[in-house]
Amino acid sequence: MNYFTTTSQPSKRAVDCAIVGIYDRGKLGAGASDIDSASGGEIRRLVKRGDISSKLARCTMLTNVPGIKADRVIVAGLGKRADFGAAQLRKVLAAATRLISETKTRQVLNCLSLESVSRTSRYYVARHSAEAIGDALYRFTEMKSGRKPAASALKKVGFCIAKRSDASDTRLGAEHGGAIVIGASLARDLGNLPANVCNPSYLARTARKLATGNGKLSTRVLTEAEMRRLGMGSLLSVTAGTKEPAKLIVMQYKGERNEKPVVLVGKGVTFDTGGISLKPGPSMDEMKFDMCGAASVIGVMAAVAALELPINLNVIVPAVENMPSGKATKPGDIVKSMSGQTIEVLNTDAEGRLILCDALTYARRFKPAAIIDVATLTGACVIALGAHRSAVMSNTDALRDELVDAGARAGDLAWPMPLGGDYEEQLKSNFADMANIGGPAGGAVTAATFLGKFTDGLTWAHMDIAGTAWKSGAQKGATGRPVPLLSEMLLARCGALP
Ligand code: BES
Ligand code: MN
Ligand code: ZN
Repeated sequence: MNYFTTTSQPSKRAVDCAIVGIYDRGKLGAGASDIDSASGGEIRRLVKRGDISSKLARCTMLTNVPGIKADRVIVAGLGKRADFGAAQLRKVLAAATRLISETKTRQVLNCLSLESVSRTSRYYVARHSAEAIGDALYRFTEMKSGRKPAASALKKVGFCIAKRSDASDTRLGAEHGGAIVIGASLARDLGNLPANVCNPSYLARTARKLATGNGKLSTRVLTEAEMRRLGMGSLLSVTAGTKEPAKLIVMQYKGERNEKPVVLVGKGVTFDTGGISLKPGPSMDEMKFDMCGAASVIGVMAAVAALELPINLNVIVPAVENMPSGKATKPGDIVKSMSGQTIEVLNTDAEGRLILCDALTYARRFKPAAIIDVATLTGACVIALGAHRSAVMSNTDALRDELVDAGARAGDLAWPMPLGGDYEEQLKSNFADMANIGGPAGGAVTAATFLGKFTDGLTWAHMDIAGTAWKSGAQKGATGRPVPLLSEMLLARCGALP
């Protein structure tokens, strides 16, 4: 997507479509007001007739508006002026974009960047706008046969600004938003692909492809033999039942010379049947999304590489398929992790933690400044927080706050949950150093507590994205979360925010 800024009046700019807004009780936004005057009161006339609604995200498309240069005008409902914040802005632009994508509009002028958006700077107004438009244009048609619906014609998004001095922050916000869309779209594609296409080898190929031709980025893929030599008995126990070879994907981005890296670890279970502790049938197809943690950290890497951020970032993806078979791990089996600790596998469906613990141990060699694992780890997290917020657990309060705050700024919400302490009791095993499950009570917390046994001495956080990574039902599909949250955290860390 191309972005530009302009200080000219919306009515004087020749574009395929201009987006303007109207608040409740007929109050016109800045762009609507300008177009209304230039057209001799066209917008007010239509409002009076009841043909234009100010209800949030209700959009009306006008053509042949006299006295202006734009071919089309979308008048978007902005709701109550006092309530117009970043989330409302995103909703409105998503709706406007859906309307635009049904037309042949190639350039659009977003006049909503002239509005004051509560508690949102010019930079974030532009970034949220670029993200909302990009997300709304996303389509997943790869697996459909026959003639594919044409990709949207939209190639250029302009931002109206009130004064020249708003240009640099607006342009930066749009550029960052565009990169986040690239990362989130990649994450959504990987999530939406079926497990018979997106298997561990496919994830490895995708990671390799991202690195080709990029001098700052390299990808290494470890095979099962190499993992066996490293002593990753826990990870390998999950892949025992499948014919698909497991991979440990290691991506390194060097944008800085001498800094310790941030390490992101993403759960890459390309399909989770539960193994011998087989899952029930209904909705099992959704377990193709059990690699969304992996998809999101690869997506973040794509965004960081696109922006060439001055930061060091490593991404580690343990990629496996969890299947039952005559060779599969059985409940009660005891495995030895790379850390040396032994684990009694009481439930083969608690497999995410079994691959993550070895990936976390492996990550120690990079001496991370901070390490964050991202995983669709527990159904219990969906019960606790639903689809609205990802859970954040950490052994370091500052890192936990950093992630939750980044999520709030990015509009990709998260919430803190506890860890360790009393919850350790639930992981006791009569036979091994620990069990891999802690019972149904506090399931999201005991899962994080399990991982905490492998992160001694590291500045570590865990994100459970089981509720946020994908949508079920008619809108079934990957969301690309938490790519915006993690990107925001990295942008802040390397001083790239205004
Ligand atoms: N991938 C699932 C978690 C999950 C389930 C995410 C449903 C989203 C929706 C994970 O591997 C799993 O099966 N967890 C078990 C753990 C239990 C056996 C302790 C769960 O949550 O039921
Ligand atoms: Mn499972
Ligand atoms: Zn799983």
